[in-house]
Amino acid sequence: MKLGCCYYPEHWPEEIWAEDARHMIEMGLSLVRIGEFAWNRIEPEPGSYDWDWLDRAIEMLASAGLKIILGTPTATPPKWLVDQMPDMVAIDREGRPRGFGSRRHYCFSHLGYRAESRRITTAMAERYGEHPAITIWQTDNEYGCHDTVLSFSDAAATRFREWLAARYGDVDTLNAAWGNVFWSMEYSSFDEIDPPNLTVTEANPAHWLDYRRFASDEVASFNREQVDIIRAHSPGRNITHNFMGFFTEFDHHTTGADLDIATWDSYPLGFLEQFWFSEDEKREFLRQGHPDIAAFHHDLYRGCTGGRWGVMEQQPGPVNWARFNPAPLPGMVALWTLEAMAHGAEFTSYFRWRQAPFAQEQMHAGLLRPDSEEAPAADEVREAARVIADIGPQEAMRAPVALLFSYEAAWACGIQPQGKSFRYLELVYEHYSALRRAGIDVDIVSPAADLTDYQLVVIPTLPIVPDGFAEKLAALDCPMLIGPRSGSKTENFCIPDNLAPGALQELFALKVTRAESIRDGVSEPGDGFEIARWREDITSDLEPEFADPDGTGVVYKQGGRRYVSVWPDRALLDQLVARMASEAGVALAVLPEGLRTRRSASHIFAFNYSNKPVVWPETGAEIAPAGFAIARRA
Ligand code: GAL
Repeated sequence: MKLGCCYYPEHWPEEIWAEDARHMIEMGLSLVRIGEFAWNRIEPEPGSYDWDWLDRAIEMLASAGLKIILGTPTATPPKWLVDQMPDMVAIDREGRPRGFGSRRHYCFSHLGYRAESRRITTAMAERYGEHPAITIWQTDNEYGCHDTVLSFSDAAATRFREWLAARYGDVDTLNAAWGNVFWSMEYSSFDEIDPPNLTVTEANPAHWLDYRRFASDEVASFNREQVDIIRAHSPGRNITHNFMGFFTEFDHHTTGADLDIATWDSYPLGFLEQFWFSEDEKREFLRQGHPDIAAFHHDLYRGCTGGRWGVMEQQPGPVNWARFNPAPLPGMVALWTLEAMAHGAEFTSYFRWRQAPFAQEQMHAGLLRPDSEEAPAADEVREAARVIADIGPQEAMRAPVALLFSYEAAWACGIQPQGKSFRYLELVYEHYSALRRAGIDVDIVSPAADLTDYQLVVIPTLPIVPDGFAEKLAALDCPMLIGPRSGSKTENFCIPDNLAPGALQELFALKVTRAESIRDGVSEPGDGFEIARWREDITSDLEPEFADPDGTGVVYKQGGRRYVSVWPDRALLDQLVARMASEAGVALAVLPEGLRTRRSASHIFAFNYSNKPVVWPETGAEIAPAGFAIARRA
């Protein structure tokens, strides 16, 4: 695994570039990402390019021995471009234009902006496509960041209507598919259909689902336009995009299919603070991040391409954008780096080289302080580089367990949650955590993935079962777990004729006859576990494997397959994981609180996320808080 950093030569006087490059190499870095926000410096006026500074920066970095990741700058269109085409900005749900003065102020559907994106991408790819130091291209930056996937502009409305016409053929088919007879919502032409915002009360969920599918396709096609241009001008280079954490606004499997390497931006402390974790977890893992945050995304993004992935931005210290921004425990930056290696990353690149003394991110740490002295992370990077060199290249292995992740499932749960706390990401993460607490390695895969060689398949929920998917599962003979709400909607967001779990009734002789959600803070006893958030009434001749004290079924087992009819808490998940692992022949470990492991072909890695020393049972070694240990596999 290579190490790198994100660098902005345009932020610094040219006199210090050479010293920066030398210092990067000395620290153990061999990659540097540049360019992704520099449009206005590349093209200060429409059509007049200033390449000189970027030529010199690239030469300087290359001659120091660094390989370069070059970003297209389309996340930050300059002021002159917005003034030229004021309607290129995205429109928010309230119908307001999103203003200039930060970033990502464009609408994916605006054809004029798409032409500009192709133009600047072509100009960069023509100029640098064959440069020997440029080995990777990054398209744009964090598609969707700052809530920018959905736009309610005229441009989006026009393209949505075209998308609908292509999908349904005629408007009566759409009316029937969406159930528009309800509330007299029928349309007589595609031209009458608006985006689903600004309705008096909720819009039709089928309308929302199609808007989300459409918006996701817009991201994919925007990205594909850049990819096609780069491939034509920069043969043999890899193309990536830096995805975000806990982010489901577009289908990353679709966009990932056009990339060579999926990368993601890893800010474990910011994510712990901003997401659903309990107050206790936020306190306990304040300076480490919850133990599964980084690994979850490593395993998710590995599944978004053919297996090639990396970390484009690694948190090196306090960030600036969470509600509270603590510093990592000493050791965490090295731990996060080696954990990426254990999960098969090709590189980890720190964000950013030097902390900026100006503008929005001046409180965001870098590897250097604003005065160019080293920040605490620098020595941890050196340590990680040493360990990486010592243990040598690591070959990734297929994990024994496939955990299914579906962006469409996330949209379905979000569009009609039915219970406020039914959060798709959290449900998948809880299953992932339960497997990882038991020392099991996991591949997170899309519904389209080949599942045949896995020993265990876990599907936390899949409301819309794609065509052919039930048959694909039926052909597997490994244990599998299927969670609540699976098969509860058709592809047009209606209840299936045979009720939930719809097509999955091919796997289970059961039917969901009613579903209820339970308010936060209330739970009901199960049998060694608690039932909260969600439960379903099941009609079946099967004897429940787990039931509540009244005998109401909670888990139904048919052969090696289980259907779970509640939101499972940790106690239930731990029991299910233990049973399924033993049926599947997957080895279980009893790991101390906060310890996580991961195997490559040759080594097993252990990472201590707790704030106390722990003993790693595998070797008997004591691992300090924020420490790691690596052992050769037998
Ligand atoms: C990412 C983004 C970077 C920087 C960073 C700060 O979301 O890609 O440009 O803003 O966050 O943590």
